[in-house]
Amino acid sequence: MEWYDDDVCDSVEAKNAIATLDAFLRDEAEPVIADFEKKAEFPHALVSTMGDLGFFGTMIPEEYGGCGFGTKIGSLLARKIAYVSGGLHLIWTANSTLTVSPILHAGNDEQKRKLLPLLALGKKMGCFGLTEPEAGSDAGSLRMRAEKRGKAWVLNGSKRFITNALHASVGIFFARTGTGKHDISAFVIESDEPGFKDILGLTVKKTEKHIFACSDFCDVVFDDVVVRPEHGGLLGEFNQGFKIAMATLDGGRINIAAQSLGIASRIFDDALAYVKDREQFGKPIWDYQYIQFNFAEWHAKLLCLWLSIIRISNMRDDGKAPITPLASAVKLQATETAYEIAARAVRCFGGTVVTKDMDSLMRMLETCAATIYEGTSEMQKKVLAKYL
Ligand code: CAA
Repeated sequence: MEWYDDDVCDSVEAKNAIATLDAFLRDEAEPVIADFEKKAEFPHALVSTMGDLGFFGTMIPEEYGGCGFGTKIGSLLARKIAYVSGGLHLIWTANSTLTVSPILHAGNDEQKRKLLPLLALGKKMGCFGLTEPEAGSDAGSLRMRAEKRGKAWVLNGSKRFITNALHASVGIFFARTGTGKHDISAFVIESDEPGFKDILGLTVKKTEKHIFACSDFCDVVFDDVVVRPEHGGLLGEFNQGFKIAMATLDGGRINIAAQSLGIASRIFDDALAYVKDREQFGKPIWDYQYIQFNFAEWHAKLLCLWLSIIRISNMRDDGKAPITPLASAVKLQATETAYEIAARAVRCFGGTVVTKDMDSLMRMLETCAATIYEGTSEMQKKVLAKYL
């Protein structure tokens, strides 16, 4: 698909970074990622190269070791990485948006100086722990508790569906610190070992998945975990964690909108190549106007949504407009449209789509999942309705 990306990269540095990303995705990720996905294996070498190339630092300002490109280039990266692998994108975004953003916007100078350069280079992976077994859409009802004991914090409770947790050594976790519904604080936990293995009472267990299998997705249990100052502590103001989580998700939701377009456009491109090649009734399927009109319609929808994502990403970077309703609007519209297009486009492959030679059906399921994580479509409507 033609996306008119030259307009998006408005600096030489950004253009160079995107050219490097394109080469990395084409030459290193594309040839091997399907195998990691099949084996449900974390692609350590690819993640390490992404770190060396600075891709985890695209949204971190230069003073903290990143490239300072912001949301717009972040959206472009998201779309491009997800085009190759939705799972690789989740690994990237859990680190680069969900972990980086709360530290950047709520952390103190010491936390920023210590953690952001490590996250920028992928020396440490990050994870974002909000969801719990009983607190999904109603994130404010989370039960994990934090109590102050001397200079330490003691955490009890459990988190669910936490991307990267098995390989992370920086975690942002949200816990109840008062009796009011939104009396929640954010905590940053830093560990010397991936998966927080050196932190007593903290256990991480991977959940097997049908899709996004190269990225891990974990239950994280806190059993009287004592977080001393050398291992982290409060992130931002006491009892202000819910707002930190929600503001983080504003950025995350724009990124997921871009991810879903990346995945859907991969199905679109593969299906387009297929219909131009596949012949039935004596001519390529593409020659039927019905097929051409479908592709034209999907192209129009994907392209216009992409241009909205870029506009909204710019607005987030400018910091002038309230971003929450825009992030919800674009997440709702992009993920639902990507899923709708994916579900229709996979049918172009006919029976071949169910064979293991083809991964379009799994990609279609990924677009379905994108309507759920980082806030379901219904929760985006709830946010939008509040603004109406
Ligand atoms: N930024 C800053 N503050 C915000 C905010 C935002 N975006 N959204 C809400 N707030 C503030 C409100 O202003 C309010 O503040 P006051 O009390 O001072 O007025 C406070 O937070 C409470 O807001 P609400 O009353 O709207 O909160 P709520 O309990 O009704 O919940 C909700 C609102 C939007 C439904 C929220 O619970 C939500 O977003 N749910 C979905 C959860 C979600 O997205 N989870 C994703 C997990 S991460 C993930 O999925 C990652 C992955 O795997 C890839």
